[in-house]
Amino acid sequence: MRIQAALIGCGRIGSKKHLEAFLVNRELLDLTAVCDLKRERAEQIAETYAARTGKRPAVFTDYRKALDRELEMVTIATESGYHYAIAMDCLERKVHTLVEKPMALSVSEMDQMIRRAKEHLVKLGVCFQNRFNPSVQEVAKKMREKAFGRVFTATARILWNRNEAYYKQADWRGTWHLDGGTLMNQCAHNIDLLQWVLGGEIDQVTAVIRNYHHPYLEVEDFGAALISFKNGSVGILEGTSNVYPHNLEETLSIFGENGTVVLGGLAVNKIQTWQFPGESSHPFSALPDPESVYGSGHIPLFKDFYEAITQDRDPYITGEEGKKAVEIILGIYQSHKEKRAIPFPLGPFRSTDMAGVTL
Ligand SMILES: NC(=O)c1ccc[n+]([C@@H]2O[C@H](COP(=O)([O-])OP(=O)(O)OC[C@H]3O[C@@H](n4cnc5c(N)ncnc54)[C@H](O)[C@@H]3O)[C@@H](O)[C@H]2O)c1
Repeated sequence: MRIQAALIGCGRIGSKKHLEAFLVNRELLDLTAVCDLKRERAEQIAETYAARTGKRPAVFTDYRKALDRELEMVTIATESGYHYAIAMDCLERKVHTLVEKPMALSVSEMDQMIRRAKEHLVKLGVCFQNRFNPSVQEVAKKMREKAFGRVFTATARILWNRNEAYYKQADWRGTWHLDGGTLMNQCAHNIDLLQWVLGGEIDQVTAVIRNYHHPYLEVEDFGAALISFKNGSVGILEGTSNVYPHNLEETLSIFGENGTVVLGGLAVNKIQTWQFPGESSHPFSALPDPESVYGSGHIPLFKDFYEAITQDRDPYITGEEGKKAVEIILGIYQSHKEKRAIPFPLGPFRSTDMAGVTL
């Protein structure tokens, strides 16, 4: 059964990874509408899709008009600060909604999205596509088998470079109300994996953030955090967009009683270290890097979301799952602002509460 879908937001990720995932999954998903305030961006996607499939999606500048059509699913790839309002509109119309990370910029918005999806019996999913990486799935298998024993600590390092030209591409980048800083934008994927491998409830978050090298931005370009879990494990985070002269690494290191794993590569797609009793290497150490840091995970993620709808089960990354990394990042911001450890669950803190804070 094919289901009719729309794409809202035809910028960088929409035109690259959402379009690609719709094309690869075209036996399952029928892209019937594409929406962008900038009509030419939506037209461009419609053209490419038509050239590959023979069917041209309708083009809209007002996504609400697309919602008036027969539609079962949308994917939202607009600026982060607009995810909440657009998702709420889609969920209200009982449309299954797959939203880019970060799903929203406050806990209360994320909770409302989760609640609205449940009330209307529709699926809400979040694009943390790296969870579908074969390397990450190998870790998931070991976790299911409890092969690590107790996991003591894990470290996420995102050591990248984002220069002025990157931020000048669009006004929304590097603002508190529409984006957040490097932790919210670039580091969210690895923060999601960090919390996922440590698991369980968070006790508290302690952090500092800085803006070292991007004076034209109001947000952080560096963050360091300690995330303590109620189960005793500790997550260590270092994220920066200041590495000279270009991206250096994105790694996730997991240290357990009976296992050590380090994932790396361009998009945590390789297994650099793999130590378990009787195992001291993994063939995925030699996997090729994807063409960009976005990886290839949108393709299986869209397929999973289709299956969640048609089999009436949860998507692999639900709203509740998508919320966790954002809650940690907001906790990091609050910890910096208030110069104290922030107990979890987080209160009503939102990214715009950071306006005017010295970084
Ligand atoms: N999963 C990933 O790896 C990944 C990678 C990059 C970006 N993202 C996320 O995707 C989102 C978009 O990022 P981007 O780099 O593609 O941004 P972008 O600025 O290139 O694109 C955003 C597009 O949304 C459009 N838009 C805004 N409001 C709209 C509305 N009401 N209706 C229709 N279209 C609207 C804009 O005109 C623009 O074309 C962000 O939330 C970002 O964090 C995720």
